[in-house]
Amino acid sequence: MLDRLLVEHDQLAKTLNYLEMHFMELCRGGRPDYTLMHSLLEYVHEYPEQIHHPLEDKIFSILIERADETELIEALLAEHNELEDRTRKLRESLRLLEGNAISSEALALQLSEFLIRQRQHMYLEEQKIHPLIERFITEEDWEKAQSGLPIY
Ligand SMILES: [Fe+2]
Ligand SMILES: [Fe+2]
Repeated sequence: MLDRLLVEHDQLAKTLNYLEMHFMELCRGGRPDYTLMHSLLEYVHEYPEQIHHPLEDKIFSILIERADETELIEALLAEHNELEDRTRKLRESLRLLEGNAISSEALALQLSEFLIRQRQHMYLEEQKIHPLIERFITEEDWEKAQSGLPIY
């Protein structure tokens, strides 16, 4: 059951690593490939945040009824909104940077926080939530949660 979530995390992690390479370029005073950065952020917005998060939202809402770690699960659910908001703002900032409306330092700081928050979120899920999924979520719950959601 966890395979799908792990594969999706791996894909997101790879995207974050690519973004980090552009972050390094910005920090070195270079001009990163903005078109590619836009595409990478679009990917984060369209796939992990439109497909992976909704699946987790369904699984976590079942988990919250069965596990004791309700505070943690609620916090992670809230983080989905926070992360989506960060992605949206980062995409907007990238457009502003291209028009010279913000500094590259401002974008680098925002991008750095984005990378940290996205990774922290994934690590926390894998360390704390995945064991709970294995314990409390049945195959039937899983099938129900996945139905109607596309696979990428
Ligand atoms: Fe998540
Ligand atoms: Fe996740």
